[in-house]
Amino acid sequence: MTATLKVALLGCGTVGGEVARYLDTHADDLAARIGARVELAGIAVRRADLPRPGVPEHLITTDAHELALRPDVDVVIELIGGVDTAGELIRTAFSHGASVVSANKALIAAQGTSLHEAAAAAGADLYYEAAVAGAIPLLRPLCESLAADRITRVFGVVNGTTNFILDKMEVLGACYQEALKEAIQLGYAEADPTADVEGHDAAAKAAILAGIAFTTRVRIEDVHREGITAITSADITAAKALGYSVKFLAVCDRGADDRSVRVRVHPAMIPAGHPLASVRGANNAVLVEADAAGQLMFYGPGAGGAPTSSAVLGDLVAVGRNKLAGVTGFGSANYAGLVLRPMAEVSTRCYVRLEVTDAPDVLASVATVLARHGVPIETSGRSGCSLALVTHQATDGALAAAVAELRGLDHVHEVASLIRIEGTDPAP
Ligand code: HSE
Repeated sequence: MTATLKVALLGCGTVGGEVARYLDTHADDLAARIGARVELAGIAVRRADLPRPGVPEHLITTDAHELALRPDVDVVIELIGGVDTAGELIRTAFSHGASVVSANKALIAAQGTSLHEAAAAAGADLYYEAAVAGAIPLLRPLCESLAADRITRVFGVVNGTTNFILDKMEVLGACYQEALKEAIQLGYAEADPTADVEGHDAAAKAAILAGIAFTTRVRIEDVHREGITAITSADITAAKALGYSVKFLAVCDRGADDRSVRVRVHPAMIPAGHPLASVRGANNAVLVEADAAGQLMFYGPGAGGAPTSSAVLGDLVAVGRNKLAGVTGFGSANYAGLVLRPMAEVSTRCYVRLEVTDAPDVLASVATVLARHGVPIETSGRSGCSLALVTHQATDGALAAAVAELRGLDHVHEVASLIRIEGTDPAP
């Protein structure tokens, strides 16, 4: 085999290091599958002096721009993260026709449309399977295998770090801080774990998923976002007692009018027997519902160096084959132009826990307020000064208005928890 595919690797951290090692150990298989031997042209890093076992030292450079600009490079793999510099480097790669593989969800969620335009103008590919749900093949199944179907909902666990934390809290009774520390040590968390626990990472993934599933431009600002930092051990215990598990979900669904879409990430209680309730550790799972295909579940490791490198290398094989064939693969398609609807219009059941005074008529006053806002109570339970309620379906707007009024009641000290309940009804 004489053909070679020259590859520049930008970033050699948890994922980049694995990519560099697999490029070496899987070299023969990669060559056979691509139809060309992969030649690593360079590896750009921020600090050249760090130990990187198994990574060819002579290829290390600190000049990422020079590497992305090299005209002999066919494919640039961008794994440095961040938005501005990474975006510039990718545009530099396109400027000489190189294709790009990236794992950068924040960048794709922020600049995906313009980057796809730049790729199309350059006759190059931009693939980013690793940006969503780690090792799980999800974007290409949505773009290619389900290309002829009409997707109605994409729903699941797309952040490994938060699932790891909630799982540890539920199964081992760990506290939040301990579980977060372990997730960081295991290499699941982003460089700044705030992106995980406050839901920015999941929101970026939800924007990418919804954009592809509904062929509509979805920006990260369109995604309603709540993180997991307010979830307490008491919430996990209450969920268990009600037969639920607390999961951090991304929910992207097509409106019943077929012209709109809602995209949100937030913690939710789901029935303990629901397929998403059994997602353990840093795994991810995504349910895709489509007219003809029905319900599909994609499950597997959602974070970590080796699993994410599998998705990166899968993309490398795909764009490498395209290069050799002189074609490009899928780009972005926003032709449907569905309208993004606000969270206030989303309807769910909800678990609400109030800290109240020990007066006999508290439940009656709370129920009156909720009913006035169109939020009927399904069940209630009182334990000392804690009043726990489960509401029937109500819109988020109605619930928010009711909760604001509850906060003003004399007998209500605190609205301690508000967790939506999902997975019990079909999408409205
Ligand atoms: N920090 C991310 C997660 C890594 O925990 O899911 C994969 O995107």
